[in-house]
Amino acid sequence: MARPAAAPDFHHIALQTFDLDNSIAWYRDYFGCRPTWATDKFSELTRSRLPGILRMAEVALGPANFHLFEREEPAGVTPPTATGIQYQHVCLSVDAPADLPVWRERWNELFASGRYVFLRPEAPTEIIVDDMGTHSFYCLDVNGLEFEFTCLTGSVTGEAP
Ligand SMILES: [Fe+2]
Repeated sequence: MARPAAAPDFHHIALQTFDLDNSIAWYRDYFGCRPTWATDKFSELTRSRLPGILRMAEVALGPANFHLFEREEPAGVTPPTATGIQYQHVCLSVDAPADLPVWRERWNELFASGRYVFLRPEAPTEIIVDDMGTHSFYCLDVNGLEFEFTCLTGSVTGEAP
């Protein structure tokens, strides 16, 4: 069986939102994401895959990107749950354990500002240290999607939890 010559490069994570402006503002203010492009024109394939799609915006975080897809909010919608099938979390690594409380406190400050609507208004977890010395905590974006921040310094294997 033929195998491509090189492994593919990671390009973007696409996520869904019912409030694009809320999502763009939070991704900009929390992560420091930079808006790169946006559109409200979609192919038939996209419209069939994502019924109710209205707009999308790309925001860049370093070499990676988030695609924020705004869709019509159906009646009776529920935010992501801890048990539903989805990408369970997206993990971002930082250089030093001391960076983790800074990111965690930044999350709390933006939440307390009242400037954003959070579908799952849950506080970040505590910072944990596993048996391999990996530090991490978990927090949710405005859409209820989970991120992990981790620092692998001191880790034996380099694997995140
Ligand atoms: Fe993880």
